[in-house]
Amino acid sequence: MEPPEMINAGELVLKRWAAEWAPAATDAVRDSLPELRQFLPWATDGYGLEESRDYIARSRAGWDDGTQYNYAIFTTVGELAGSIGLMTRMGPGVLEIGYWTSTPFAGRGYMTTAVRALSRVALTLPGIERVAIKHDEANKASGAVAVKAGFEEVAREVRDAEAEGESGTTIVRELRRPAGLSAGRD
Ligand SMILES: CC(C)(COP(=O)(O)OP(=O)(O)OC[C@H]1O[C@@H](n2cnc3c(N)ncnc32)[C@H](O)[C@@H]1OP(=O)(O)O)[C@@H](O)C(=O)NCCC(=O)NCCS
Repeated sequence: MEPPEMINAGELVLKRWAAEWAPAATDAVRDSLPELRQFLPWATDGYGLEESRDYIARSRAGWDDGTQYNYAIFTTVGELAGSIGLMTRMGPGVLEIGYWTSTPFAGRGYMTTAVRALSRVALTLPGIERVAIKHDEANKASGAVAVKAGFEEVAREVRDAEAEGESGTTIVRELRRPAGLSAGRD
């Protein structure tokens, strides 16, 4: 049920996170803290190389144990533009997508492109019927990405806000496997 380690997405390429990209990941996060900290509780002033290394190590371990599949997003000229991943934590039959774009690359349609490509891959995995995106109601950019990629709202959940821009209301959006897209990738 494992997705490929590399996914071509037009002007972008998604690659399974590798340890050698920790310095670039640190720079990408640090350059984007004002935007990321609004909705990602881990994005704090203390974020540095150690945190990037830890994230990549957890990503690689999660891939190996089948709980999460995290990719670095690169432009065609090799710039690190962000991160996207699939998580199994919503249970059987569904994969949840999480993501962030490095601010210098935001607003170019990159995350929409990456979500479309990764969703299509996810929906070809055996047993996967739906992909989901959960975002805070105040996170208009994330909601726009999900809507542009074809996700529809299925639920709202109220919880304690964790990051500074959050309202505490989570919108759950899902995309179902279309008829005609066959499952069965090994
Ligand atoms: C959400 C995020 C990944 C979007 O990345 P991106 O590469 O800029 O996404 P895209 O360019 O594909 O699309 C962004 C869309 O959001 C829209 N948008 C941005 N800010 C907006 C706002 N305040 N209100 C409404 N729409 C907004 C853009 O106009 C664009 O839509 P359009 O193409 O129809 O104009 C990026 O903003 C980010 O990393 N945010 C911080 C981390 C985060 O919130 N991650 C997701 C947690 S659920």
